[in-house]
This record gives sequence, C-alpha cells and structure tokens, in this order.
Amino acid sequence: MAIIIDEKNKLFHLQSEKTSYILGFLKEDFPVHLYWGNRLEATPDFNQLLIVPYRWPRSFSAVDAITDEGDRVSRDNLPIEFSTFGNSDLRMPCFHARYKDGSTVSRFSYKGHKVYNGKKPLEGLPATYVEDDSEAQSLEITLTDDLTGVSIILQYTVFEKYNAITRSYRCENNGNDRITIERALSATLDFKKCDFDMIQASGAWGRERYAQRAPLMKGDMNVWSARGASSGVHNPFFALVSKDATETNGSAYGFNLVYSGNFIAGATVDPYNATRAYIGINPFNFSWQLEAGKSFQTPEVVMIHSGEGIGEMSRRFHRLYRNRLVTSKYKNEERSALINNWEATYFDFNEDKIVSIAQKAQKGGIKLFVLDDGWFGKRDDDTSSLGDWFVDKAKLPNGIDGLCNKINALGMKFGLWFEPEMISPVSKLYEAHPDWCIHVKDRERTLSRNQLTLDLSRDDVCDYIIESVNAVLDSANIEYVKWDMNRNMSNVGSALLDSEHQGEFYHRYILGLYKVLGAITSAHPNVLFESCSGGGGRFDPGMLYYMPQTWTSDNTDALARLSIQHGTSLCYPYCTMGAHVSVVPNHQVQRVTPFSMRGNVAMPGQFGYELDVTKLNEEDFSQIREQVGFYEKYGSVFHRGDLFRLKNPEDGNITALEFISEDKNTVIVMLYSMQGLANSPVEYINLQGLEKGAVYKKTQNGEMWSADTLMNVGIPFLTDFDYKNKVWIFEKQ
Ligand code: DGJ
Repeated sequence: MAIIIDEKNKLFHLQSEKTSYILGFLKEDFPVHLYWGNRLEATPDFNQLLIVPYRWPRSFSAVDAITDEGDRVSRDNLPIEFSTFGNSDLRMPCFHARYKDGSTVSRFSYKGHKVYNGKKPLEGLPATYVEDDSEAQSLEITLTDDLTGVSIILQYTVFEKYNAITRSYRCENNGNDRITIERALSATLDFKKCDFDMIQASGAWGRERYAQRAPLMKGDMNVWSARGASSGVHNPFFALVSKDATETNGSAYGFNLVYSGNFIAGATVDPYNATRAYIGINPFNFSWQLEAGKSFQTPEVVMIHSGEGIGEMSRRFHRLYRNRLVTSKYKNEERSALINNWEATYFDFNEDKIVSIAQKAQKGGIKLFVLDDGWFGKRDDDTSSLGDWFVDKAKLPNGIDGLCNKINALGMKFGLWFEPEMISPVSKLYEAHPDWCIHVKDRERTLSRNQLTLDLSRDDVCDYIIESVNAVLDSANIEYVKWDMNRNMSNVGSALLDSEHQGEFYHRYILGLYKVLGAITSAHPNVLFESCSGGGGRFDPGMLYYMPQTWTSDNTDALARLSIQHGTSLCYPYCTMGAHVSVVPNHQVQRVTPFSMRGNVAMPGQFGYELDVTKLNEEDFSQIREQVGFYEKYGSVFHRGDLFRLKNPEDGNITALEFISEDKNTVIVMLYSMQGLANSPVEYINLQGLEKGAVYKKTQNGEMWSADTLMNVGIPFLTDFDYKNKVWIFEKQ
C-alpha cells in the first residue's frame, strides 16, 4: 500500500519504493509537512518528526494555538503543508484570495480525507496518469474555511514504482459570494534546513535550458515567466540538492510544473534557516473570479526525490514522463528519422525542389519528410499569412495532397508545419477578424516576428483553429505535424473579457490551448505531433502530454546542442527531444564540426536532418545511411533506456553519456570532446549502473570487459583532435 494513514494521529505517509513523504495535522487542524526523503519503513511518531520548530518560541511570531502540552504555536516557525495568508505564517503563501469584504485572511482547517487506488484526471489540464489503478494511490484532503465556505481539496498521488509524487489542489467556492483568487500556486514545500544548491535550466532563443547551479542564501531565489509561455528563458523546473550532490551521490529534490504558461518556481530561506520551495502559476498579473458554486483547479507539480544523486533524480523523471505523462500512441514506438526542409530552403521552395530533396533523402534511408514554414497563404517571408491555412498554389500547384502523394510514392511519410496560435496582420484572417488577436483596445498591437498572437481565451478562436487545422490534416495523408509558436505575448488583453476578468487572460489562454490540442490530437491519434516554439521556447510537461516530442532548439550546432540537451535532460528524457543534423558552417553560430559529430550529438534524440541533401558531398551523404541504420537499430536504447550522465559539458572538455537499454542488455556510450589537445592526456571514462558481476562484450572489437572494470577502472578516451566523437556499444554476455 502506497499511502499509510495513522488515523488516530492524522498522519499521512506516502510511501514509494524508495521514498517517503509524510504530512500531518497539528491539533487536528492545520496541515504540517513532516518529511520527504529516503523511504522510511515505518511511520515515525509525530513528535519525532516535528519536535524542534514549534517548541522554541521566537520573537515577533504571532501565536495561532496552544498545544495540549502548553506550547505556543506559530505557523511561521512550522513546516506548513498548505500555506495561506492571514495567519501567523508570514512567508510566501501557496494560496491567497480576496473576499467580498475586501479582506484577504483565510483560515483553512481539516474536514476530511479519502484515499483511492489510481489517479483521476485534472479538469481541463494535462497531468500524469495511470494505466492501471494498482500503479498509484491518491489522497484527497479537504480543508475548509468555515467563515467563507471555501474549500481546498489537496490532491496527492504517489507512483510507487516511479518514486514520484504529484501534487495539486482544487479550490471549491461553496460559499454564497464570489471570491477573487490572487495567488494559486500548486504547492509550497517546507524543508527544515537551507543548506541546498538550486539547479535550474535557463537561457534564451538558441541557448535554451543551460543548467545553472548556485547555493541558496537568505531571501528568495526563483525562475519565472510572464511571457505567456513557459519559455526558453526559464523552465518550470528546479531542483534543490545537497551541497555534496553530484550525478551519483547526495540528495536531490526536483520540482516540475505540468503547465505551459506563466509560472513561478523557486525557494525562500527564512530567518531560522528553513526553506520554502514553491511552484505554480505566476501570481504576477493573475487573478481569478471564482463564483459561488464554481471551482478552480491548479496545475500539477511532479516532485521527485533521489537520495542517490542528481542522475537518479533525472532518471526517475524520465521513466515517469515517457510512460505516464506522454499520451500519444507513439510513446512506445520508435519514430522514423526525418528530413525537414527549413534550413535547406527557408521560404524559398516549390514542389520540384521539395521532391528533389525527398528523393535524395529517401536514398539515404530516411522515411519521413517534413515540409516546414511557407506552404500556405502568400508566405514568401515571415511578414504575412499566418492564420490562412490554405495551400499556396504558386509554390505547390498540386496542393498538399498532390505533394503528399509524391512523397508517399517514394515510400516516405509526409509531415507538415503549422503555427496555429498566430495571426499575421497581413492575412485574410486578420481582414475578417481584427479583434481575434491579443490586444488592448486603443493601444498599439506590438509585433514580434511581424505577427500577433490569437486570443485563445475565446471559444470562437479556438473553434477556428480546430476546424482549420483539422481540415488540412483531413485533406491529405499527413502523418506528422510540427506545431510551432514563434513569439511571446505582449500588450496583453482580450476583447471579450470585462475589466474584472482580464486578470484571468493568461490562464484562460492556456486552458484554450489545451482544449485545442486535445481536440486536434484526439481527432488524429495516428499523427505524430512535435511541439516547437521558435526552437525550444515551450519545452514543458504540459506540451509533452499532448505531443510526445518537442523541437529542442533552433540552434543545431553540435557543441551548443550538447549543453542544451544536457540541461533539458535534467528532467526531460531524450525521447522527447527533437534533434537534427544540419550543414556547416552552422547557420546559428557559424561553427564547423564534422558530420559524424553532428550525427552523434543528435543521435540519442528524435533524430533527423535539416539540410539540403542534394547539395551534400558524397562523403557526408554516405554517412546518412549509416547514421539512419544505427538509429533504427539502437534508437530504443536511447529512448526507452536509462541515461547516465558520465561527464557533463559544463564540467570540461569531454561530454560522455551512457544509455542502458530497458532489458539491461545493451549499453551505449556516446563520447564527445570539444577541443583537441596536442599530446593529449588520456581521459578515463567510468561507466555506471552496470550489473554487478556481469561481463560485457564491446561489439566493435569483441573485447570482453567486466562490469567492475568498466565502472571502476574505466575506458581510456584520447582527446587529441577537435570534436573527436566516439560511440561504444557493449552487449551483456
Ligand atoms: C521556428 C522553428 O523553431 C524552426 O524550426 C522553423 O520551423 C521556423 N520557426 C519556421 O518559421
């Protein structure tokens, strides 16, 4: 049983194979957080879990209660499970609401709880799920504010085998009056100490999700987005790790929000060296009018603890996401290597050019062709036509259907690019519906990449997107969709929301987006969807729920990609990362790297090419067949196996990744060096996670290696030349 309840003492112990999470109630009234970490076999006594904080009175702390033992209790000094404003806890709250009389004081106390097997979906929001009710247990605890009649239903699920806990809550307004929710984070989580480093993944276009690590100090440290998307600037992920944490040792607590819009995620260290971690919808520019009888659901936060280092934290996220977050039927299928024409042609193509690229690619063994931006309206550059999802017959005289048939005749599948959330001011759609874009009346409509964002908080706009995209998908044998989104929101407002509801805009947009994605993907279950946002500008679990892969970055330079893919892998598995080989000099950074390096860097991801194969020299072209063959043979090791980050790009000249297949029989090590070193020292690469006592055969030369030797002695790697890259494959004997 994953949830053990001590009814008498109101202790809730959420136990997975390797972790425990315990919460309880002080004076059967308000919820306190008692423990999260390595698995505890038995539930300790309440007093052992909470003995210190509330027995030491502190100056300036207001007192909420006196315990039976006579202790004066201030919530400010306690690890709180559900934090609100208006009591003695003066730290950043999880929930904050304004009531009819203008007051913002809430007081929630325990009303009841229920436990059930499995996990319920969250209304209107993507979330992790179970395939069988035996995989997880869920707990719902109801807290009520008797004065207002507002209830909070805390929602927990523990995935026993995945060692994951998810949290969210639903706010139900069972009172008589409307309330205004001004802050609805998904969770705050109090630690009794502060000696943590924070790890997060931040960047910008072309350098998304570079891993950052810094110590916490007194005060606040967070990442956030007010861009209308999770964004490539920050990601809704962070981890608090012990000072000694490495890939293989120490303790790591990871938080990741299943949400694609504005978020905040961080931690505050209080005066007494306790830490409050928090994550949820960004309260900046957010408010929600909750009418009597209505409820508000917060997005889900996935929480992973590992007592075995940062690497194991990542692997736990990866296993959960590839199995119980992604919903697409492709989650368990190996996907074809593809070729995309974006960097090959940009907007400058016609049917002949596209077919010639596909013909050549087919000779390299590639089985999927993706037609990128520029096929619709009159789009010869980025100044027009978004929203007009009608084929440009000047470029494609036989329509999408005609082109698709020609690609299919080559034995290849056909995929198509869309950017459905956008509208160009120069478009038929804008002529017909100038108020369909995000805007504030009488203010300028700021362009980014010459485009505006459609207002997905409106039902009519969502319906238009669903109908127009579905119509194209139904018009031809389209088996893959790249769903792009190339700007952030500015000058935000909706023509349909009144002044009291404008604060709901960002969240309503995301709810609209999820409705649209749900409708289109469920109407086309056989289409493989890839999400994209000017590269990896919306790489988050919310999008992965609907679309099993995300274009990781527009930066296809091999070296830059090592860092981008590394930061992304902190919580997202390689099977979710679109990764392509492009030409050199690289279009984003002008660097020249060997074809093999570009291939091997992209190989563990959802692999493909983004170049004009008709212009490749024979030597490079001949590598395509080899690379595609390798990918077809070993893709499942990268995509279903476990990742061990042996050496990370931020730590030095070598990056080394090890993948162990799901059946544990195949081990692949990918090695990359950035700089050649004359007269180079030998670097020893120590493998991880092998089966004790097992023997592995290196398939390339038949050498036999014991697991012991591979893990403790290591294998030598010489970094004598720039961009030296190697792949070692071992089969367990
Ligand atoms: C941004 C994407 O990341 C690119 O791959 C490409 O699809 C362009 N948009 C097209 O406009």
